[in-house]
Amino acid sequence: MHVAHLSLVDFRSYTHVELPLDPGVTALIGPNGQGKTNLVEAIGYVATLGSHRVPGDAPLVRSGADRALVRMRAVRGDRAATVELEITPGKANRARLNGGSPVRAREVLGIVRTVLFAPEDLALVKGDPDGRRRYLDDLLVQRTPRLSGVLSDLDRVLRQRSALLKTAGTAMRAHRQSVDLRTLDVWDSKLAQIGAQVLVARRALVDQLRPHVAQAYEQVSSGQGAADLTYKASLDAVLELEPGTQAGPDLVEAQLLEAMGQLRSKEIERGTSLVGPHRDDLLLELGGLPARGYASHGESWSFALALRLASYRLLTEGDGLEFEQDGEPVLLLDDVFAELDVRRRDRLAELVAGAGQVIITAAVPQDVPEPLVGARVDVMGGEVTRVL
Ligand SMILES: Nc1ncnc2c1ncn2[C@@H]1O[C@H](COP(=O)(O)OP(=O)(O)O)[C@@H](O)[C@H]1O
Ligand SMILES: [Mg+2]
Repeated sequence: MHVAHLSLVDFRSYTHVELPLDPGVTALIGPNGQGKTNLVEAIGYVATLGSHRVPGDAPLVRSGADRALVRMRAVRGDRAATVELEITPGKANRARLNGGSPVRAREVLGIVRTVLFAPEDLALVKGDPDGRRRYLDDLLVQRTPRLSGVLSDLDRVLRQRSALLKTAGTAMRAHRQSVDLRTLDVWDSKLAQIGAQVLVARRALVDQLRPHVAQAYEQVSSGQGAADLTYKASLDAVLELEPGTQAGPDLVEAQLLEAMGQLRSKEIERGTSLVGPHRDDLLLELGGLPARGYASHGESWSFALALRLASYRLLTEGDGLEFEQDGEPVLLLDDVFAELDVRRRDRLAELVAGAGQVIITAAVPQDVPEPLVGARVDVMGGEVTRVL
């Protein structure tokens, strides 16, 4: 599939912009701060309903405006679809498909698929677990849009359960009668039931990613060291289970309940949920050592690129996708070439040059490697100009 047209109204720095796009490579060129990343961020948002730069939606709306509009025409084979998203911070986003009546934003997931490479990706390797969880969840949602609802349910249950644990803790410390523990039991079951679905889906995804990551790492780093990844569930640590087991949702649900049972007094004391998918991590290893803390800067970059390339290949392969479609996602490369040494830069360029649609941002045309020279759009002061 490819994105044929992007329109933005009051998104980030743009009052209004229209950007027609062709398949193949397009480079968005302009000095810093001109709005290049804002354009790729908008395309990525339609695919994942989130920004790769900020956790919430508020910064996406142009300052002074109440809501942002992102409209996109996506073409797949001989069929086109127009997706429109209205982003209103603090309210549920609304979507329209082909100009129809408004639906929940979630309903349009899966129509546009993207894989975004960005300077922030280094944090996948060097940073905290939340970035790695987000990496997995964004990919899950693109493959299985239904999981978007499960993930928001998980967030809601965690918020409510934490609030209850805090109340229980305060009551306990004041030597008052504790809150009704049966209410907590109800939230334990909800967390176990929803958490198990997320955990099982993430573990299966990691198993599917593993060979792609190993292969992509070898290609990016010219065969130096073997990259591996393991899903590290907080559940496994509590129950002292071997990581990477293939338990089904019913067993995982029972295991989560057991773990919460063991942790109850600790959870009340701390006022927070201590076991579940929100405390899990993805362990990245190079030659048997954790990449975080051991890998060099260059190796960390190779690993980050390998994770993104693996996403691209998994989506392209299409196995296990919820909808039947030619799965190839749009590749978005935001300012990454400037971050890489010459060797990695050339490798990455070769590996993505054959993709159906690649959108690159760079400060100057010279930053775009030779195999990726294609169409050029200049981005300056909120205006986009196609350069012939
Ligand atoms: N919500 C917003 N309202 C208005 N301007 C914004 C908003 N968010 C970001 N900007 C502006 O967008 C510009 C950055 O755009 P960006 O796409 O990151 O630039 P670059 O071309 O360097 O990738 C900055 O000038 C920033 O102030
Ligand atoms: Mg930028």
